Amino acid sequence: MDDLLRSMEEYAALRTIPVIGRDGAALLAATVAEAGPRTILEIGTAIGYSTLLMAERAPNDAVITTIEVDAERAAAAAAFFRRSRHAGRIDLLVGDAAAILPVLGGTYDFLFIDAAKAHYLDYLAKAMDKLRPGAVVFADNVYFYGLVTAERPPRRMRTLVKRMRAYLDFVNSDARFATTVHPIGDGIAISRFQGDDTNAHS
Ligand SMILES: C[S@@+](CC[C@H](N)C(=O)[O-])C[C@H]1O[C@@H](n2cnc3c(N)ncnc32)[C@H](O)[C@@H]1O
Repeated sequence: MDDLLRSMEEYAALRTIPVIGRDGAALLAATVAEAGPRTILEIGTAIGYSTLLMAERAPNDAVITTIEVDAERAAAAAAFFRRSRHAGRIDLLVGDAAAILPVLGGTYDFLFIDAAKAHYLDYLAKAMDKLRPGAVVFADNVYFYGLVTAERPPRRMRTLVKRMRAYLDFVNSDARFATTVHPIGDGIAISRFQGDDTNAHS
């Protein structure tokens, strides 16, 4: 498996496809190992590097649903999954997460958000009724290249920065989440969903 992950790192680097960095990957692996999720939802597959990383660390019967909008990256991910021992428990959905999430069934113990940075809050809003009480939400790149804390972000980035701040404000202030932001890589927010009246019994 380590060899496959190394080939994926090379494949991504050659084509400048973003995958989770080394430190983020270590935190993701440790968080999945600790949480022991049976169902995982990933938004932003790219070539499936983080998908396989999570599959390695999750319980053997865990299933992963992962969503990628770029057909070429999704095809590469599918090919890498077939080279692993996890292909049978990964469901790769190709399309825009904003359109897929509202019609996606199932409930999830772990949500990894790693797609369009301007849409994190929208993804979370659309996935929230599918989170089981106790679910972990792991969001990568929440510092948005360090701009989230900048007093005057570049004009062309302001909307994106505002939206990422809105995500952080939400998970930091909503009583249904307990959140820690880790200064690792480009910032990782880990939020534990406490559940609410809507999905406490699902
Ligand atoms: C940072 S990469 C994901 C990296 C991957 N999680 C990893 O660490 O190996 C973000 C991916 O999200 C995808 N993406 C962007 N917007 C999306 C959307 N609306 N729906 C689904 N995927 C999206 C991009 O095409 C890109 O491949």
